[in-house]
Amino acid sequence: MKKVVITGVSGRLGPYVVEHFVEMGYDVLGVDITKPKQTLSKFMTVNLMNIGECYGALAGADAVVHLAAIPVAYSHPNEVTFQNNVMTTYNILEAAAGLGIKKAVIASSESSYGIVFTKQNMEPQYVPMDEDHPQRPEDCYGLSKIVAEKTAEMINHRCGMQIVSLRIGNIIATDMYKNFPGFIRESNKRRNILWSYVDARDIAVACRLAIETEGLGYIALNLSADDTSMDIKSSELMKAEFPEVKDIRVPLDNYHTLLSNEKAKKVLNWQPIHSWRDNISNI
Ligand SMILES: NC(=O)c1ccc[n+]([C@@H]2O[C@H](COP(=O)([O-])OP(=O)(O)OC[C@H]3O[C@@H](n4cnc5c(N)ncnc54)[C@H](O)[C@@H]3O)[C@@H](O)[C@H]2O)c1
Repeated sequence: MKKVVITGVSGRLGPYVVEHFVEMGYDVLGVDITKPKQTLSKFMTVNLMNIGECYGALAGADAVVHLAAIPVAYSHPNEVTFQNNVMTTYNILEAAAGLGIKKAVIASSESSYGIVFTKQNMEPQYVPMDEDHPQRPEDCYGLSKIVAEKTAEMINHRCGMQIVSLRIGNIIATDMYKNFPGFIRESNKRRNILWSYVDARDIAVACRLAIETEGLGYIALNLSADDTSMDIKSSELMKAEFPEVKDIRVPLDNYHTLLSNEKAKKVLNWQPIHSWRDNISNI
């Protein structure tokens, strides 16, 4: 049985990833600075800002899935968010490299493209936004994710560790579907996340596939559902909120996602299966 360390297990996404790896037969050690509400696996309290603690947590592991972070801009002073997200990723990957671990996944974000936390009305250059779209954040969170990605690339260059950086869209835990009726018909809500979402259970599967797939080297992959989180057609959303964006690269049939997930589907043989449209009634 393979041993995997998962960081950030006390947050929104962590429990779903732990549960899935356990179900798939992995020996899981969850780590976080705070204790999880439920016991889904072995757990260790670790401050990932301390590289010694990272070595201690990773000893004997075959792979690491690094989810821990401050997950938004402006919830903390800028330098706190930047330092936490950059140094936790550096420490966990440096320790993994030192211990000879061969596979890692890190949680990056759609925020790295810059539109999510823009205060200057930045627009996408084209949609669906794929992994080649420029990353031009104004905020410390988006930048922290870019530095984390560059750190992963550096570690891959140094020792060949396979590292998959998942640029995740808005994470939806199962208890969040009840919030959808509050925004699905208002185009100005969720505009800056391009109305993206992805179910935490689908992300968990992508994390496992990113560990199990061979030969990926360093790669960044967007993760989103196939559809938007809205009850307004995607072409209408673009006309209403981003009328200047003319570079629309695929036919936007119905509710087609505007954060491209094509690369993850191809590279990982991943298919998101949970849609909000199946999770709420009477929309
Ligand atoms: N929430 C979203 O919609 C979203 C979207 C895209 C990407 N992401 C990324 O996905 C990952 C998971 O997001 P989430 O929503 O579950 O976040 P969350 O805040 O709910 O959970 C993150 C966990 O990381 C832990 N953590 C933070 N700093 C730590 C440290 N120094 N040492 C140990 N533990 C630490 C926290 O205690 C927390 O339990 C994050 O990397 C986030 O940036 C989130």
